[in-house]
This record gives sequence, C-alpha cells and structure tokens, in this order.
Amino acid sequence: MKLVRDPEKLQRMLREERARGKSVGFVPTMGALHEGHLSLVRASNRENDITIVSIFVNPTQFGPKEDLARYPRPTRRDLDFLRAAKVDFVFMPSVEAMYPKGLAEPLKLKNAKWPRLAKGLCGKFRPGHFCGVATVVTKLLNITGLCRLYLGAKDLQQAAVISQLVRDLDTDIQVRVMPTVREKDGLAMSSRNRFLSTDERRRALAISRILFGLKRELLRKRSVATLRLRAIQELKKSVDRVQYFEIVDPGTLVPVKKHQKKMAVATACFVGKTRLIDNVIIRA
Ligand code: PAF
Repeated sequence: MKLVRDPEKLQRMLREERARGKSVGFVPTMGALHEGHLSLVRASNRENDITIVSIFVNPTQFGPKEDLARYPRPTRRDLDFLRAAKVDFVFMPSVEAMYPKGLAEPLKLKNAKWPRLAKGLCGKFRPGHFCGVATVVTKLLNITGLCRLYLGAKDLQQAAVISQLVRDLDTDIQVRVMPTVREKDGLAMSSRNRFLSTDERRRALAISRILFGLKRELLRKRSVATLRLRAIQELKKSVDRVQYFEIVDPGTLVPVKKHQKKMAVATACFVGKTRLIDNVIIRA
C-alpha cells in the first residue's frame, strides 16, 4: 500500500497505472473508517485492478457551527484498516495541498442540475455543504483521473448530487452506490456513531426501527402524509431533535404527496449533540 500526500504525484502515479491498462476504483472518505467504508473498498477491489482511498476532512463542506474541529481523525487505525483491506493507494493530502489558494470559492455551476438536488433535506439545514462536497469531489476526481467512484447509499443526497455532478460535467466516471451497512441491531454505520454514549446509542436505534417500520406500512399503501406524521411523533420519543423526516422521490429528492413506484424516506436527527442521518428506499 502506497501512502501519497502530493496531488501531482498521485496524478502521475495513476496515469502510469492506467497507461499499463489498469482500471482504477476510487473511494473518497474523510477517515474514521468503519465497515461501511470497507464494503466500498471490497466492491472496488472486486471491480478494478487498482483501488485508491482518499482520507481528507474537507473544511469547505462544514458550516461555521459544525463539527469540523471535533471530527474524528484516527489516522494510524485507518491506515492499518486499509492495509488489511488490500488497498493499493491511500491519498492523504493536507488542506494546503488541496486548497493552495486558500479555501476557494466553492464550485457553483449555472444550468447544472445538482444544485437543485442539493436544496432540500440536508442541504436546507447545511447551507453550502453540498457546494463544498461538489468542489472537493471534482478536485479529487481531477487528481485520480478516469475511475469508478464508490459512494455509500446512507448519504442518499450526497450520492444523488455527485451522480448528477459527474453527468453535468460530462465526465466518463461511473458512480457505484453501495448499500448502507448496518450494525446487527440496525443502526447505520457512521463515523459519528463513536460520539454516542450508551444511552444515546440505545435511543438512536429508533431511527432505523422507525424507517423500516414505515417502509412496511408504505408497502401496504397507507397514506403517505399520515404515516410521515406518525413516524415523526414516534421518533421524537427517542431522539432529541428531528431535523427533517421526508418521504421523497429518490430521483429528484422532492417530497411526494402520494404513493409512487419508487420512494425514499430520509431523516436527520440529533441524539445528544450528534447528528445522524439514515434512509430507506421503497420499491412498490
Ligand atoms: O462522504 C464523505 O465522507 C465526504 O462527503 C466525501 C465524499 C469524502 C467528500 O469530502
């Protein structure tokens, strides 16, 4: 496993790999790796000759009041994890290497579709977040070059925004969205789960329980609006704050009023100070 910190050096190394006919899979992360990331690495290892994982806590996607400073950075553990997972390259740039001119104006594309996808759900409560994600992912993809890109379905909106972004930019990148990995009791794996106390961890279980319960009820064609309100009431008994809880069209992320073939239920909740997101997809 090669650890590379310099963007140009990685660009050069991957160019050489591609010239030798090797296909490249790329898993972008912010570190604090868990089984969810590992499932992306496994998929990339299966489908490509070379797998590269980036670890970069991207400052431009955090709001001023968000958890950038306290975001976990267990670097040695992450590198052991990636070595065991047989990753070929780890890219760990500094903030200065990624943003040599300072924290650049985030990318905004006129006429592109992704800013529209970025408006609701998390975007409503994290203004600028997806511009920061789009900026860093564009930069990372320019560094890695042509690759298959692996993203987790837990970040429903991020996956939608990035999938649209690579289409809007006419790239030849293939985006692979892999299923959410859950703990045995249903909690979606997240780097932020480590912040939960035992009591918060127990209360956080309501999120997946209620999402899957709602999925069953929606499949029985009960009223979308009534079920949504009932689920929110139920969730409020366990979590400290429901930031949003929406039943949306998974293509447009616009809330749906009545049943349709494909729907997604997506939520963000605070348990203590920790913000957790989760979602389920419903195919009627
Ligand atoms: O999902 C994440 O960890 C980040 O948003 C990503 C895609 C690595 C961009 O910083």
